[in-house]
Amino acid sequence: MTPSRISMTQPQFEKLSKIIYDRSGIHFPEAKKYILESRLSHRLGELELENFDQYIALLSMGPYQQDEFQEMFNRITINETSFFRNDAQLDVFEKQVLPELLEARARTKRLRIWSAACSTGDEPYTLAIQLHRTLGVRMSDWTIEILGTDISERALNIASEGKYTSYSIRTTPKTVLDRYFTTDGRNFTLSEDIRRMVTFEKHNLKDRLAAKRHGTWDIIFCRNVLIYFDDDMKRQVINTFCDVLAPDGTLFIGHSERIKDITDRFEQIPVPQGFCYRKLAAPMKLAA
Ligand SMILES: C[S@@+](CC[C@H](N)C(=O)[O-])C[C@H]1O[C@@H](n2cnc3c(N)ncnc32)[C@H](O)[C@@H]1O
Repeated sequence: MTPSRISMTQPQFEKLSKIIYDRSGIHFPEAKKYILESRLSHRLGELELENFDQYIALLSMGPYQQDEFQEMFNRITINETSFFRNDAQLDVFEKQVLPELLEARARTKRLRIWSAACSTGDEPYTLAIQLHRTLGVRMSDWTIEILGTDISERALNIASEGKYTSYSIRTTPKTVLDRYFTTDGRNFTLSEDIRRMVTFEKHNLKDRLAAKRHGTWDIIFCRNVLIYFDDDMKRQVINTFCDVLAPDGTLFIGHSERIKDITDRFEQIPVPQGFCYRKLAAPMKLAA
């Protein structure tokens, strides 16, 4: 039986959306109230709560508060993604940015890529496939680290499993499917060599300190999540990326996202469909 929907009053929406924003930076405008209402009604049913006031109380105090935040983020985040999403941009990564970077790192042979807000892993695995086919037999000479992070534990569990439905591979070229996946006709399982290249970890983009603990990255992908943030949160996230990106590193964002108006620490690399940015050198401080 489908549980009945529990309606959310305006004050309840305002309290809940503030709690969500404070924890994650995700901004729910009023027009999206129905998403919270529909996605969380079922959870209230599971917890045998009668209304959203009780749910807000649960999130605000009590021993299960942390667990409930996780449960809530698993439900309210939009995890839409796919392998080879936005192929024009990925071409820029593979054919332009990556060769330059490989040359720049030819001495250390060490490359670090962070896919921030990676959802079910399709994006970091795509980057791993691109690296794998670019390096070919040279792979074993390199130390490659690809980290996929997300706030949703549910999405990360799917990522770690490496097993996908036909929906996830809908924009994947057939040659890639044949080379890197096996299928039982229904599910598509990613090959072990690619899965081994990526590690996953829960990370909330709101947590600047945790981001800094990971060291410096050569490439950061953060696509299709800034759209859920307001300018303040975007600025915090972009500043963090700037702090943890190597001086010659590159940031890729989603095709409908803009950072020009919120930061002067990056400049756009002039490639059509690239949506990629390089760090500007920090302004020199003049001696007094
Ligand atoms: C639409 S998906 C984008 C996935 C992938 N980057 C892509 O472009 O295909 C957005 C992801 O951002 C994650 N997300 C939202 N807020 C976040 C936060 N504060 N910290 C980390 N991840 C977050 C969601 O859980 C979701 O998986």
